[in-house]
Amino acid sequence: MRAAVQESVSVTLRLTRVPPLGAPVGRVRQFFLLAKNPLLSIPAAAYEEPIVVPTRPRGVVYVCAPDLAGEVLLDRHHRFPKDPLQKRILSPLTGNGILTAGGEDWRWQRRTVAGLFRHSDILHFVPAMVAGAESALARWRDAPPDEIHAVDRDMVSATYHVIAHTILPSDHAEVTATIEQGAAAFGAGMPWAIASGALNLPRWMPHPGKRALRRQTAELRSLVAGMIDARRQSASPQDDLFSRLLAATDPETGRGLSDEQLVDNLLTFLLAGHDTTSRALTWALYLVTRAPDWAERLRAEVAEVAGDRPIAAEDVARLALTRQFVDEAMRLFPPVPTITRIAAEDTELAGLPVAARTLIVIPVYVIHRHRLLWDEPDTFDPSRFAPGHAYPRCQFMPFGAGPRVCIGAAFATIEATVVLATLIRAADFQYVGEEDAVPVSRIVLVPRDGMPMRVSLR
Ligand code: HEM
Repeated sequence: MRAAVQESVSVTLRLTRVPPLGAPVGRVRQFFLLAKNPLLSIPAAAYEEPIVVPTRPRGVVYVCAPDLAGEVLLDRHHRFPKDPLQKRILSPLTGNGILTAGGEDWRWQRRTVAGLFRHSDILHFVPAMVAGAESALARWRDAPPDEIHAVDRDMVSATYHVIAHTILPSDHAEVTATIEQGAAAFGAGMPWAIASGALNLPRWMPHPGKRALRRQTAELRSLVAGMIDARRQSASPQDDLFSRLLAATDPETGRGLSDEQLVDNLLTFLLAGHDTTSRALTWALYLVTRAPDWAERLRAEVAEVAGDRPIAAEDVARLALTRQFVDEAMRLFPPVPTITRIAAEDTELAGLPVAARTLIVIPVYVIHRHRLLWDEPDTFDPSRFAPGHAYPRCQFMPFGAGPRVCIGAAFATIEATVVLATLIRAADFQYVGEEDAVPVSRIVLVPRDGMPMRVSLR
């Protein structure tokens, strides 16, 4: 069946969606749904309505209309700070860096590092992005021809390669090895950490992977602290992102980051800077296998723009179809599928009372497939993002919105475009999973059973 779909041209590709929750469930069932896949706990009404207040569990509101999401994330963001759950899950690794900090502590750190992510500067990193893609191609080239590759893991390695080579000093082998070892513990512990955090279970409660994760994290933090120390002692100044972060100061106060804040933010960039983009690329490659006619159009574009030479900075703006493809992949499979906030005080949304401490869930996955917002929401069609198409704010928001919008959005978009272009020009991909890939939320959106593919280099 799949082979027939892959060989045909211009078929309508409809993607199955994660089944929503039909009726409210109690706390125990909720715990297991959250551990299995938090997207399964989103009520069916969220795909149809602007706002949903479930009767069970209480204290949660789903905000699904773009204008309401804009109120929470932009217009009235002071009333809706980040919820403590993300901090609880991520802070063992990212401490009090800009992803997890709040209030004034966040504001000055954001101002301090903002200058590192200017669009023009990011274009300097295009060769590092190409090298990340080449690292995946080299792995596939060296493998036996029939080998089935875990493309989701290969994309994590490729995007880690990119961020490590842009932000870390060149001698980062030890850090990389520790991150690779820690990834398994993180993966094992994540479902339980999410479920325990969402239901506010006590922090001391053990769960699988917790102890290993704590050990790896401590080691990683001390390795990164050592790198900072070594660079500070170094007699030869270097102009890389690492040195620029070390030297960054708040434009308003002149204050720089302490060593601990430097470790927090370096680990934040390492984590947030690759674990998300890798998911965008994994799902984009899945769609390449499911929409072969589009794959050919992208190959033709890359050939026209860059021929056989490596993608260069000046090519990026001309890879328009590739960029549309990436956007459509992130619409259907947003790498960060939900954004959460908390009501700081009693307030209202869309005329409904919202009590202090209510959890506000902005389900990006749902908004991106909402029946009131998109024609044929489950149908794959990159031309939705062709020039001339504009969407109201927060209707398409893979990077969030408002003051806490992703600081790496431009970096990630350029990277995903460059890496996808490099990969599809060099290889053909065939998805060999048993059935359609099922998206599961683990803070980032991963394929439940991995992304097994045969890869034939051209
Ligand atoms: C496709 C790739 C990416 C996606 C989909 C993505 C998505 C997001 C989203 C949705 C947020 C906002 C979360 C919220 O409001 O609660 C965010 C924040 C953030 N992202 Fe990304 N991101 C991506 C790539 C990157 C990259 C490449 C970097 C760094 C190089 C990065 C660094 C950050 C940081 C530091 C924050 C916190 C910003 C703040 O709170 O001020 N992200 N990201």
